[in-house]
Amino acid sequence: MSILRVARLGHPVLRQVAQHIPPEQVGDPEIQRLIDDMVETVEACDGAGLAAPQVHHSVRLVVLQLTEDDEDWTIWINPQVTPLTDEERITFEGCLSVPDMRGAVSRPLAVDVQALDRHGEPVHLQLRGFPAIVAQHECDHLDGILYIDRTDPRTLAFLEEYRRHGPWPWAEDDDFDDEEDADLEEDADLDEDTDDGLGDDLSEELDLVEED
Ligand code: NI
Repeated sequence: MSILRVARLGHPVLRQVAQHIPPEQVGDPEIQRLIDDMVETVEACDGAGLAAPQVHHSVRLVVLQLTEDDEDWTIWINPQVTPLTDEERITFEGCLSVPDMRGAVSRPLAVDVQALDRHGEPVHLQLRGFPAIVAQHECDHLDGILYIDRTDPRTLAFLEEYRRHGPWPWAEDDDFDDEEDADLEEDADLDEDTDDGLGDDLSEELDLVEED
């Protein structure tokens, strides 16, 4: 297995609509090796998921972690994601292809997923909450869509600032007195500690729910 180079924002492969993988080709050594390499790559990058276009293969394949403590990687080929609800959740997302940034994205809270697994067997499941968000983020990559396309640009932050100051909006008004500023700094320090724990698990490719 090998760790693959991750395409970053600006590389055309991230904006292409990825190719369907013919089911009879799922077992081919090239596809199986790509799956293994993607798992090794996403683990090395400490991500929660990775789509094949992010490693310069424009095919409809994603690997993802559906729970924070999931040690097994979920593999989906030709996934179809359908929202199951109008209810949305705002999540601060990150992406290995947009390193060291976070931005708020609102997405449907529950989705239906149909795909093939790495053996070419059909899978059909319904997801809610964090796994539904990860699924949508990763499958967006297959259509050339990045989370920053869906974010309110005002919420974009470098990771370091995000951890230091917390997510936007920081406050509704700007007439803090010094005491409040001190409190904010303390909170930011606490957040930083908490984020470090979370970041280790979910980190770059996608992290942090909790904004609703
Ligand atoms: Ni991504």
